[in-house]
Amino acid sequence: MSALPPGPKGSLLMGVMREFNRDTLGFITRCRDYGDVVASRFLYVRAYFLYHPTDIETLLTTGAKSYRKAQSLRSPFFRRLVGNGLVTSEGDFWRRQRRLAQPAFHRQRISSYGTIMVEYAQRAIAGWKAGEQRDIAKDMTRLTLEIVVKTLFNADVSNDADHVGEILSRLAKPFASQATVKWILDNRLPTPGHRRYFNSVSEIDRLVFRIIAERRASGSDEGDLLSMLLQAQDEDGSHMSDAQLRDEVMTLFLAGHETTALALSWSWYLLATHPEAERKFHSELDEVLGGRAPDVNDLPKLKYTEMIAKEALRLYPPAYAVGREAIEETEIGGYRVPKGTQLFAFQWVTQRDARFFERPDEFEPERWASEAVQRLPRYAYFPFGGGPRQCIGNYFAMIEIVLLLATIGRRFRFALAEGHPVEVLPVLSLRPKSGIKVNLLQRPHDAAPLRDS
Ligand code: HEM
Repeated sequence: MSALPPGPKGSLLMGVMREFNRDTLGFITRCRDYGDVVASRFLYVRAYFLYHPTDIETLLTTGAKSYRKAQSLRSPFFRRLVGNGLVTSEGDFWRRQRRLAQPAFHRQRISSYGTIMVEYAQRAIAGWKAGEQRDIAKDMTRLTLEIVVKTLFNADVSNDADHVGEILSRLAKPFASQATVKWILDNRLPTPGHRRYFNSVSEIDRLVFRIIAERRASGSDEGDLLSMLLQAQDEDGSHMSDAQLRDEVMTLFLAGHETTALALSWSWYLLATHPEAERKFHSELDEVLGGRAPDVNDLPKLKYTEMIAKEALRLYPPAYAVGREAIEETEIGGYRVPKGTQLFAFQWVTQRDARFFERPDEFEPERWASEAVQRLPRYAYFPFGGGPRQCIGNYFAMIEIVLLLATIGRRFRFALAEGHPVEVLPVLSLRPKSGIKVNLLQRPHDAAPLRDS
């Protein structure tokens, strides 16, 4: 076993921090030139970057017991937001919470969410007019937030959705600097930015606690995730505290809408810039739906729409990295991994690797129907992670993306607004830096009277 993998030296004090912060996506892409396992250092923290599907599989599945979530997820910033919820918790506590939450994500259950997804999407676009300019990323964030809260907590936040959306985008800002020294030093300096952050979290807290209090007060069993969590008991008969419930609700609140909103936003962006794919998308919608709104029974027929979603998740993976920390000395790709090493796999890089994907930077939804896809190594494409900590909401998300694309796409098309360049901003997730401004165009098909279901 060789001692250390090759990698960029960086500066004596900061390691690679500066390069990483200056151009995160460029830096992690360039580092692949060193090999499939690359060592780097952020200040005094050792990090390995894994680029090969075999090693990513070891990290996430076969070797998973040697790792826990990465240090960045344990920063006080992130903790304040999602506490000890499903994304961040570990060990037996995580296992129990995952078991409790799982039934809310069963396929059958999610099918019943489909109706809500389409209904909310129709309601959202009812007021849209051809010719107007909108920020489609903002619209998708609002819509997916409303949907996750309605489906999992049977609550309606339509009145609060814009406010919450605005707070969440404010929350993302400090995370931009979280990739810097701060998450490593774990500092809690009371700078104005930090104070604003903690105040914003308190604002969302109020909304989440309100949802919990209303349900406790009504005592009703809505059969949704919130009811399941409320009823769950420990072996000693105790129930989850409000604080624990808050962490799970907040986690699903965040994990369950931002990522899906981004997948949709990037899909619209790609469609707006690829007329041929857009044409095929529209002809599928016309053929499968005619003039009506979609429902879950249409999903098996909306094949091209699903391929668009998959391809958007390949090129613009909302979660562009997964991270772990070695809890014991172990080995990966023939290299020694000292305890405490932070390991990262980047969807952004591996999903654009020419060894696995032909014309890797091109948007080609058709590739998902090709033979080449059958031969892909399992972890060449992992937008939802994998192994025991795989995204619990992957099926939920795919259904939501396809149904929303179909519901909205049969009524409108989008042309990118001039003078509003779309740039990628890797913060906590892969966001469009200044939104995605589009001009709305009515679908010609829509001239025919609509038969809404
Ligand atoms: C396109 C949409 C989505 C993407 C790209 C995505 C991506 C991911 C990824 C990569 C992970 C694994 C993180 C890791 O291993 O460290 C994850 C975990 C998770 N996701 Fe998603 N997600 C999406 C949608 C959703 C939805 C809709 C929900 C819930 C409604 C959800 C809830 C969660 C939760 C709770 C976890 C933690 C699971 C655990 O550790 O047990 N996600 N997601």
